Parts: sequence; structure tokens; C-alpha cells
Amino acid sequence: MKIVILTGAGISAESGLQTFRAEDGLWEGHRVEDVATPEAFERSPRTVTRFYNARRIAAAEAQPNAAHYALARLAEDGGHEVILITQNVDDLHERAGFEGVIHMHGSLAMARCYECNVQFDAPMEMVVGDCCPGCGAPTTRPDIVWFGEMPYQMEEISDALSTADLFVSIGTSGNVYPAAGFVEFATRAGAETLELNLEPSSGVFENSRQGPATVLVPQWVEDLLA
Ligand code: OAD
Repeated sequence: MKIVILTGAGISAESGLQTFRAEDGLWEGHRVEDVATPEAFERSPRTVTRFYNARRIAAAEAQPNAAHYALARLAEDGGHEVILITQNVDDLHERAGFEGVIHMHGSLAMARCYECNVQFDAPMEMVVGDCCPGCGAPTTRPDIVWFGEMPYQMEEISDALSTADLFVSIGTSGNVYPAAGFVEFATRAGAETLELNLEPSSGVFENSRQGPATVLVPQWVEDLLA
């Protein structure tokens, strides 16, 4: 069976990393548009860089949880073709042992040059005005896909969704497009759809289970491998 999985901030919540849409509408004290847009970076590159430096340090200090490990076990088992797309910019899937994760919203581990677009390993603390290792211009930025920018690997993602037998969404509120539209895309392509989330999201899924990812995901993987 070909299984395409989409994960969001909810899968890393029990590793201690905060989700985006808290009740007060703030994200660690910031409005999303103050830190996650190209305009925000233009207006205040230091604030945005500091914000992502703090996220990078928090991610490095966090550990993968049972849900990350269960997905790695599913892929390692080899009985199914498993494609993992994440909206998360942490590396907890990789550190749990999943290889080849599609980071559609970029990654805290990487930096990028606004000038020549080269991608390179980000230092733990980026500094505004650091020079690009490719072209030398002082125009580096976190390699995060901000609002208004095109997510990565969309062609690969649409190929995967159009040939999936099962689409599973884990720990995402379904608020941000294009990821929020994947369930509809997969349904139209004939895939079964399943959601594993703390609460029902805005997407329409054939099956939906509510609970913490560290419980639901290992359970689902065990059932599948049994
Ligand atoms: P959200 O914060 O919008 O949603 C997290 C979802 O996880 C919610 O539906 C929660 O109910 C659920 N959740 C929380 N704790 C959970 C747990 N322990 N187990 C299972 N589910 C849990 O995060 P995303 O949907 O990932 O984009 O947000 C999508 C995008 O919006 C992010 O990638 C980011 C953000 O703005 C960019 O920065 C471009």
C-alpha cells in the first residue's frame, strides 16, 4: 500500500515544541505576520532572525517522541511505501530515524541566500548580515517558507497524493494552504483518508481519531503492521 502522511505542529507538541494556533492567537508572544512573512523580515530582520534562532535552539533541545519513532518504524518495516510530508521545521522526524522527509515549509537546520538562493547549513544562531558562503553577499535568511512564499517540493507532493492508497494527516489544524487542501486532493484521487489529531480539524476525512499523537500514532502503526 502507498501511504502518504502529512504532519504538523501537533506531532511535536509532546516533545515540548509549541504549536502555532494557541487560544490567544499568538505564537510564542508574536503575531504570525510579525515573524513569518518576507515583509516582516524586511521590516525587522533582527526580530525575525532572533525568533527563528530561539526556535532552532528549542528544536535542538527537544527529543523525538513515540509518534515520531512509530512513523520511522513504519517506514523501516518496508511492508508499505511511506512518503512523509511535514509542515514542521524541526528535525524530530529525522532524529527518530525517518529518511527522506519532505519539509514543505523549510527547515530550521538550513539557511538560504536571498541573492543567489544557495542553501547551506544554518549556524545555531544566525546573525543578520552574515555573508552567503556561495556569493558572499550579506543577504542570508532562515530557510523557512514564509506566508506568501511557495512551499517546497510541490510537484513531488502532488505526484505522491495522486497515487496514494491512504492519506493520513497527523497533528495539523488544516488552516494553512496548500497543505490544508491535501485531503481533498487525495480523496479525489481515490485514496482513503485518516486523521489523527487532538481535536477534529477543518478537513473532511473518511476516518478521524482524536487523542494525543504519542498514543494514536503508535497504535495506528501497530495495527497496520500486525
Ligand atoms: P497548528 O498549531 O495550526 O495546529 C496544530 C494541531 O495539532 C491542532 O489541530 C491541535 O489540536 C493539534 N495538536 C496539539 N497537540 C497535539 C497532540 N499532542 N497530539 C495530536 N495533535 C495535537 O499547526 P499546523 O497545522 O502545523 O507555517 O500549522 C500549519 C502551519 O501554520 C505551520 O507549518 C506554519 C504555521 O503558520 C509556516 O510558518 C509557513
